[in-house]
Amino acid sequence: MNKMRIATITSVTKEAAGITTLRFRDDAEVKPGQFYMIWIPHIDEVPMSASYTSAEKGITIKDVGEATHALSSLKVHDRIGVRGPFGNGFMISQGRVLIAGGGTGMASLLPAAEAIDPGRVDVLIGAKTSSEILLLERAKKVSNEVHVSTDDGSMGKKGTVVELVQEHLEAKRYDMVLGCGPERMLSALLKVCDKASVECQLSLERYMKCGAGLCGSCVIDGVRVCKEGPVFSSAELRKMKEFGSSKRDECGRSVRL
Ligand SMILES: Cc1cc2nc3c(=O)[nH]c(=O)nc-3n(C[C@H](O)[C@H](O)[C@H](O)COP(=O)(O)OP(=O)(O)OC[C@H]3O[C@@H](n4cnc5c(N)ncnc54)[C@H](O)[C@@H]3O)c2cc1C
Ligand code: FES
Repeated sequence: MNKMRIATITSVTKEAAGITTLRFRDDAEVKPGQFYMIWIPHIDEVPMSASYTSAEKGITIKDVGEATHALSSLKVHDRIGVRGPFGNGFMISQGRVLIAGGGTGMASLLPAAEAIDPGRVDVLIGAKTSSEILLLERAKKVSNEVHVSTDDGSMGKKGTVVELVQEHLEAKRYDMVLGCGPERMLSALLKVCDKASVECQLSLERYMKCGAGLCGSCVIDGVRVCKEGPVFSSAELRKMKEFGSSKRDECGRSVRL
């Protein structure tokens, strides 16, 4: 699926401040947690998690720079290039699952939540402020236990989503935690899960050029995030010295997170 296909945008939804979902038809089979490389003509090609994995696929974009701004400005009938899906995706385990997302991290987690039998998944969504809470109504369709945290207390619990996870792990028994969001959040999430002796699978982001395991730009501690990841288990993450501390920029230089 490394070959590029041209896809036509079928719908555009403004999800929250600066966040847009584009839907398009693509016949590829996509697992929750996998990602596409999205080509925006004349601009760039960037990695984007699949936020919808049914016949009509979707990506949910945060406008942070040139490529994401161009994607966020597309309209119905506009066209993009898609390669993929790439990466391993989440392993949907048996038992009770706790899902914890920060920012656009919810985009790759929601398809995972939708793939779990109703009644055995709880969802925690974190953001800086209420206007940045993402995909809340969609989460409520898959779980009766959806809780929110905001840094400024404008919605749900005041504090971080990791604090919310800690409370849930203390109050209830879970068999697996799935997480996606800023890496500092993920690093704190791994510590909280380890303390509670609950396994987790976390989805990482690294600078990606080929998306297909060929160029090496996405490597973390010798492992290709685009190929062996982007989802890693607790055991794999514990071995990674760069996890939560540094990453490589577009020139391959190591920079602090
Ligand atoms: C596996 C994966 C899944 C992702 N899923 C999503 C998603 O669902 N929604 C979303 O909004 N964003 C997602 N991203 C991040 C997204 O790819 C970047 O925000 C985007 O590439 C920024 O491009 P830009 O031109 O708008 O911004 P720029 O100004 O070029 O860059 C802004 C920042 O984005 C990051 N970035 C830029 N280019 C790349 C690249 N080729 N690969 C990785 N990071 C890059 C860098 O940290 C950079 O500092 C994902 C990244 C990865 C690796
Ligand atoms: S992006 Fe090229 S090897 Fe991962």
